[in-house]
Order: sequence, then C-alpha cells, then structure tokens
Amino acid sequence: MTGAIGKEKASLSMKTSGCTNVTTGRGLNFLSGKAYLIGVSIAKERRGQGLGTLLMQTSLQALQQENIAEVELSVTPENKGAIKVYAGKLGFVAKDTKIDEYGPVENRLVMMLSLDNLT
Ligand SMILES: CC(C)(COP(=O)(O)OP(=O)(O)OC[C@H]1O[C@@H](n2cnc3c(N)ncnc32)[C@H](O)[C@@H]1OP(=O)(O)O)[C@@H](O)C(=O)NCCC(=O)NCCS
Repeated sequence: MTGAIGKEKASLSMKTSGCTNVTTGRGLNFLSGKAYLIGVSIAKERRGQGLGTLLMQTSLQALQQENIAEVELSVTPENKGAIKVYAGKLGFVAKDTKIDEYGPVENRLVMMLSLDNLT
C-alpha cells in the first residue's frame, strides 16, 4: 500500500501469509490470515502531526475488512516514535525481542496486534 496524505508522500507496505484465499464477488478475501507490516514512513517534515497514526489506522481497518485476524511487525527498540504509535496509539503489544536479528547489536522488537481489539 502506498499513498499520499495531502500533498505529502507517505508509504506503508505489508504482506499477508497463512491465508486461505477465496474469490468473492468483490475480489479476494483472506480468511484466518495474518499480515506482516514491512515498512511505514511519513515525510520527515510532516512527522509528529498524527499522520503516521492515521495511515496505520486506515490500513488496519482495511485489513480487518478483509478478515485479516492479526498483524505483526518488528521495530528497532530505539525507535521510540514508531513504538509510541504502535503501542501507545494502536494497541500493539510486544511479543518477543530478536537479538542481533540484522547483525551485531541490531536487535528487533517483535510486536503484534489482534484486529479483534482494533479500536
Ligand atoms: C514512525 C513514523 C511513521 C510515525 O509517523 P508520525 O506521523 O510521526 O506519527 P504520529 O504523529 O501519528 O505519532 C508520533 C508520536 O510519537 C511521538 N514521538 C516522536 N518521537 C518520539 C520519541 N523519540 N520518543 C517518544 N515519543 C516520540 C510523537 O510525539 C507522537 O506522539 P504524540 O502525538 O502523543 O505527541 C514516522 O516517524 C516515520 O516515518 N519514521 C521514519 C521511518 C520509521 O522509522 N518507520 C518505522 C519502521 S518500523
């Protein structure tokens, strides 16, 4: 998914897996599926204005409508702004910490959100 909010570029990418895909009249539905958030980014000069939260909320609602049950992501533990959005604003919970995932001292905090709990 890639989009624009106002005149500013924003992007968000996800992949789905473990899904049973059924074709319906309006396209594909994902049953009992899980989505992985790969990346989310807001233009530097527009950060801290609620746009990252809005982009995520809108995308999570779209996934929920496609019967995705759970979303998982990983984030650098030092990325306090992203963690504030994921945990503080959207309700993601920490599931695991992967040590040296992307090389020495490149730890990743794994977080998940059940879309049943989407507010
Ligand atoms: C992560 C990102 C998408 C968030 O987008 P955003 O538009 O800035 O998010 P929001 O404005 O909705 O919320 C950010 C919140 O984090 C807070 N925040 C920002 N930096 C922070 C920090 N270092 N420590 C604590 N809180 C911080 C902001 O104050 C804001 O909270 P508030 O509304 O209560 O004041 C954006 O910062 C970004 O593109 N970062 C670079 C790419 C990136 O790191 N992506 C995540 C990879 S997993």
